[in-house]
Amino acid sequence: MKIKSSEFVVSNRDYKSCPKKTIPEYAFIGRSNVGKSSLINSLTKRKDLAKTSSKPGKTQLINHFIINKDWFIVDLPGYGYASISKTKREEFKKMTQEYLLKRETLVSLFVLIDIKLTPQVIDLEFMRSLGKEKIPFVIVFTKSDKIPKKNIQENLRIYKEKMLIDWETLPEIFINSIKDNEGRTKILSYIEKYNKEFYSNLD
Ligand code: GTP
Ligand code: MG
Repeated sequence: MKIKSSEFVVSNRDYKSCPKKTIPEYAFIGRSNVGKSSLINSLTKRKDLAKTSSKPGKTQLINHFIINKDWFIVDLPGYGYASISKTKREEFKKMTQEYLLKRETLVSLFVLIDIKLTPQVIDLEFMRSLGKEKIPFVIVFTKSDKIPKKNIQENLRIYKEKMLIDWETLPEIFINSIKDNEGRTKILSYIEKYNKEFYSNLD
């Protein structure tokens, strides 16, 4: 899929104020600093569409971007960021949980995981909760430029093995680095396929 246009639409604290639900959307979530906003900029080939930072805790609202005037990308706050107040952490959690449960046009959630790390309980539990609520998701392993190629395959193998303890089948998996954008084409093809399905179901 070619990205012809990408625009910021609105930021919200509450799913109820999000844009009218008529077009498909894909949200990005994961631990703070895992690279959600950076991946959005990679997909849209825009340097500063979503705000990024080397420090965790940058994205704090539900941010809608409209792509090709046809579908939404949604940048969400991260989880697992220890250095913010408990109140704020709870607020982010409630905001994203409600959004995930109530947003009917959410086609699929992209769960981002740092490929450098061993499987983290916080991510595994988060995905388990998605399973419980039947929220469709895929995984994007990020920052693949940070480890040697052979370690990528090994870390992936370990991750899949760990997930198969809980899951009968694995979700779709993408690998990306913002340095070479290796996963971009595959991620956009995935979205294109589901956009078609979304619109054909409306016919
Ligand atoms: P929050 O909004 O705080 O939850 O973080 P986020 O998940 O949106 O992360 P963000 O995109 O702001 O990126 C965090 C840091 O990771 C930034 O310094 C990015 O430049 C860096 N980063 C993101 N993706 C990659 C990648 O693929 N490779 C490398 N080397 N760095 C990356
Ligand atoms: Mg962010």
